[in-house]
Amino acid sequence: MKTFSFAILVSALVISIACAPSFAQDEAGKAVYTKKCQSCHAADGNGNAAIAKALKVDIKPLSSEEIQKKSDADIKKTITSGTGAMKPVTGLMPAEIDSVVAYLRTLKKK
Ligand code: HEC
Repeated sequence: MKTFSFAILVSALVISIACAPSFAQDEAGKAVYTKKCQSCHAADGNGNAAIAKALKVDIKPLSSEEIQKKSDADIKKTITSGTGAMKPVTGLMPAEIDSVVAYLRTLKKK
């Protein structure tokens, strides 16, 4: 029963993400970002200076040209496999990964 209601919840989520206009996808992506990325990358995507210092790395602003020129596939790989000092982010469903990538695109400098 528990698995069954979970399956319904998941399909409802997937359907709502798939059918909603991209604005709603950005909103979903923002929620994923807040939960899974913000602690290290900061709310504005410029990176948490304390974390960068502790890990002795430079966390590049997600809005920067350097990050934005990466393909969606590259960014997804960074999320699922990690890169350098960033560990893989676990517990995300493919639809959530898609939406967080869409959200990252909204951070791009205009
Ligand atoms: C525990 C801290 C932490 C979390 C959580 C985290 N990151 Fe990172 N991220 C880092 C660090 C540190 C780097 C810099 C890695 C390096 O250059 O060695 C990084 C780098 C990146 C990069 C640039 C990769 C590159 O090739 O230069 C992207 C894109 C990125 N993170 C996206 C995300 C997204 C999206 C999430 C959430 C789904 C996320 N990160 C969650 C710490 C984190």
